[in-house]
Amino acid sequence: MKWRIASNFALRFIAGETIDDAIDTVLRLNNNGYYVTVDFLGEQTISETDAQNSTMEIVRLLERIQSSQIEANVSIKLSQIGLMLGEESCKQNLIKILNKANETNNFIRIDMEDSSVTDQTLKILVWARTIYDRVGIVIQSYLYRSEEDIEELMEKQIPIRMVKGAYKESHKISFKNKSDVDANFVRLSQNIISSIKSIHDVDRDEGKFPPVLAIGTHDEKIIKILVNLINNSGLPKKSLEIQMLYGIRNDLQSHFLKEGFPIRIYLPYGTHWYPYFMRRLAERPANLWFFVKNLFR
Ligand code: FDA
Repeated sequence: MKWRIASNFALRFIAGETIDDAIDTVLRLNNNGYYVTVDFLGEQTISETDAQNSTMEIVRLLERIQSSQIEANVSIKLSQIGLMLGEESCKQNLIKILNKANETNNFIRIDMEDSSVTDQTLKILVWARTIYDRVGIVIQSYLYRSEEDIEELMEKQIPIRMVKGAYKESHKISFKNKSDVDANFVRLSQNIISSIKSIHDVDRDEGKFPPVLAIGTHDEKIIKILVNLINNSGLPKKSLEIQMLYGIRNDLQSHFLKEGFPIRIYLPYGTHWYPYFMRRLAERPANLWFFVKNLFR
């Protein structure tokens, strides 16, 4: 019973459990003017079979995006496709995804997980781009190391999604104060904007291929600062993609869409929604309170 309440509440943040649920939701979002990045839920996979099954689902997802002619790319987590089993397992599965992305002319975003895998994730990203270069990464503004990571990524103009970071990290490697994380988010995004060498990519197929800088945040203050920066920089609005999670701050999504910025919704689907759902509850006490009230109703 409690599990059913949890899964019903989770539907606020996910499309449903199947590819069909995801495709239907993408269509609805596209019709309202939004681009989408679809995430097949799953992480920390510790069996070869599960890692392979997740890989095949992501391959099918890329096929369905192409056959449905929707405006969506795909976000993946390396721990879902075998990173916990070793880099070789992960690479073998990633090759299948990259080949399908190439065949279907799509873009893969590698989500960033906790700091125990940051080095491996960045190393595999660089390797992946030697096979297929339409691959981007996520950088977390709560980590001290991110400034240096961005310098290296910008040398190759690798598309970055800047986020604050969603995992519990030690104070030895990360900012603890929210105001420092926020300030670093703005500073690092400014660094990326000043390193943009060309906006060629955004002209190619905006619905699938993001520009060099995407910001993944619902923080209105930060978005406004960066929107103003772009508006005053002479760069076109499409050089800043604003990304938000499905079901969070719909008001902000439509506001910045009306202002002419590309908005991409991060849309998860699948049965392994629990860790994703718990991160969303932890980010906002009001969500947790609403959920607990419904449990006892
Ligand atoms: P902040 O937490 O300061 O919230 C600002 C405002 O947003 C709040 O006041 C509230 O109005 C609203 N809000 C935020 N979270 C909410 C919630 N759960 N429910 C309701 N309202 C909420 N992290 C990571 O470590 N690796 C990754 O790969 C990604 N990928 C990613 C993709 C996209 C598109 C987004 C938007 C976010 C991520 N994240 C992520 C998560 C990110 O690191 C961060 O944890 C969340 O975005 C919450 O932080 P905000 O930037 O929204 O700011």
